[in-house]
Amino acid sequence: MNANNIARERAFPIVIVGHIDHGKSTLIGRMLHDTNSLPTGKVEELQSSCERRGAPFEWSFVLDALQLERDQAITVDSTQIWFHTENRRYVIIDAPGHREFLRNMVTGAASADAGVIVIDAKQGVSEQTRRHAYLLHLIGVPQVVVAINKMDLVDYSEDRFKTVEGEMQTYLEEIGLTAQAMIPVIAMHGDNLATRSEHMSWYVGPTVSDALDTFPRATAPVERPFRLPVQDVYRQDGRRLIVGRVESGQLQIGSEVSVWPTRRSAKVVSIERWASPGTETVIRAGQSVALTLDDELFIERGHILTLPTAGPRSSNALSVKLFWLSRDPLRQGEYLTLKLATAEYDVVIDSIDTVIDVEDLSRHRGHEVEQNGIAEITLRSRSDITYDLFHDIPTLGRAVLLDGYHVVGGCIIEGGGDIETASRNLTAVPQSVNAYEREAANGYPGAVLWMSGLSGAGKSTLAMALQRELFNRKINVYTLDGDNVRNGLNRDLGFSEEERDENIRRVAEVAKLFADYGTIVISAFIAPTNFVRAQAREIVGDQFHEVFVSADMSVCESRDVKGLYAKARRGEITDFTGISSPWEPPENPDLEVNTGELSLDDSLKKMIAYVEQSILKSAK
Ligand code: ADX
Repeated sequence: MNANNIARERAFPIVIVGHIDHGKSTLIGRMLHDTNSLPTGKVEELQSSCERRGAPFEWSFVLDALQLERDQAITVDSTQIWFHTENRRYVIIDAPGHREFLRNMVTGAASADAGVIVIDAKQGVSEQTRRHAYLLHLIGVPQVVVAINKMDLVDYSEDRFKTVEGEMQTYLEEIGLTAQAMIPVIAMHGDNLATRSEHMSWYVGPTVSDALDTFPRATAPVERPFRLPVQDVYRQDGRRLIVGRVESGQLQIGSEVSVWPTRRSAKVVSIERWASPGTETVIRAGQSVALTLDDELFIERGHILTLPTAGPRSSNALSVKLFWLSRDPLRQGEYLTLKLATAEYDVVIDSIDTVIDVEDLSRHRGHEVEQNGIAEITLRSRSDITYDLFHDIPTLGRAVLLDGYHVVGGCIIEGGGDIETASRNLTAVPQSVNAYEREAANGYPGAVLWMSGLSGAGKSTLAMALQRELFNRKINVYTLDGDNVRNGLNRDLGFSEEERDENIRRVAEVAKLFADYGTIVISAFIAPTNFVRAQAREIVGDQFHEVFVSADMSVCESRDVKGLYAKARRGEITDFTGISSPWEPPENPDLEVNTGELSLDDSLKKMIAYVEQSILKSAK
């Protein structure tokens, strides 16, 4: 391609991410230099100014200098850095600070067609590397290259490169990203950026610029269903113009369109674009247009025009994957504004469903989402939200969360559904007798002693013994036990993971009611996973005390009081905890009672001591 063609072509947007000290700025600075993308004399100027100050020159200064110039020329977009290879122009989406950078990425203010992940060869894959990679995946950056930097500091070692490469490969695969290339580089010296390194003959793959040049451009989604979020509606020469940008699909003059959320329809009479007023017959994804319709329907900013045959989704609750930006953690019950295309909705955080640990991608139940944390949450709105799944139409399947005017998070929509209309119209009625009054009347607070452990660990035996002891002391106590509850309230539930979750959810709700009433509740359920126990803790709240009745699997199996282990081994019971269904021992219980090592009497004494210390003595 010749220089003129390159100049005319739209620049290819890329994003460069990486742990703060892994050499991202050096890589960008050096890349600009090596591709002759800097103004003549710029580097020399910086070098001599460093010399004068007696400070060593660093390639990242190039970026600082560019930033300074941009700050002075306020008309220039402060988040873009340009460079070109022989084949095309690139624009690097960047922002002065790490926080702004993340915000731009998450909000889609900056969208990139490809990403470069920079990793320090010596440090290896860091938590921030993983977080950034996850973010690229979350915002739908389709293609990445990984630059393994500072290879000179590991003696150009192929072995070290392979180790880091392998580690990154595994992580990327787990999150569903594929790296087109993993490249050993020395950003500081320009090795394998735009020119091939002389120090690593073992590497035969592409340089960074070669790898970037092979990336295809993301094309506007013309093939997808038509979506036009309405930006504005105004009158001109007696006509009513509906203005917006086509986010996906295409539309012809004369087509019938549906308006969401009103679900009314009308025919397109004219299509106008600024460049060619009144002459268009077709509009496509990526174009900004003004339409006139044959009917004066109620349409306002935030509405969405679609074809009648392939409409969007609409519901009052969304399941989203969230990237949380605010310094204040996100909590359930918070009210925020959801900005989706041109529409805004008042939403409440209905639940924090799972918090994802970017380090090992484990998922757990959580009460809050920390800054830069990732979670799956459910949002609920009073009115119906018009949306698409991110997977189907990315631009209508992503949204930003605002607290007032501040962007506090970005999310992609993974599902939706109506939260029952019954609960939509509920308002909690405050109790006329509160927990403190009951505590004062009883002389101790209500509480839930949540005992969990394997079948046969001795939960029920211990629970019943403790209940008797407390009752004898005139304490209001009640035991909820798995086998009993499963005969009544939960007789519709079996032992699949979902059914166990629901079993424990209901039990925790009941336990909470008892505890609110001032009772000391002893519960005896297997509650096999961290997830269900965290769910129970969340439902019950502060009055929750976790007791791990720990006896090894071998002990429980040799006891086999109910003969269930034998049956499970014979395959007569499926999904049996510890054998054919997961068992995750509690990690941080408030109390552990090992019934394999202690006698029943000693186990009981330990429980009583805990109750005395942590519940009875805590009376205010
Ligand atoms: S939980 O996993 O949902 O917490 P829960 O404590 O209610 O289990 O019920 C466990 C009791 O159900 C056990 O004590 C055992 O008697 C009985 N049971 C029957 N089938 C199973 C099974 N597949 N796995 C575990 N317990 C089972």
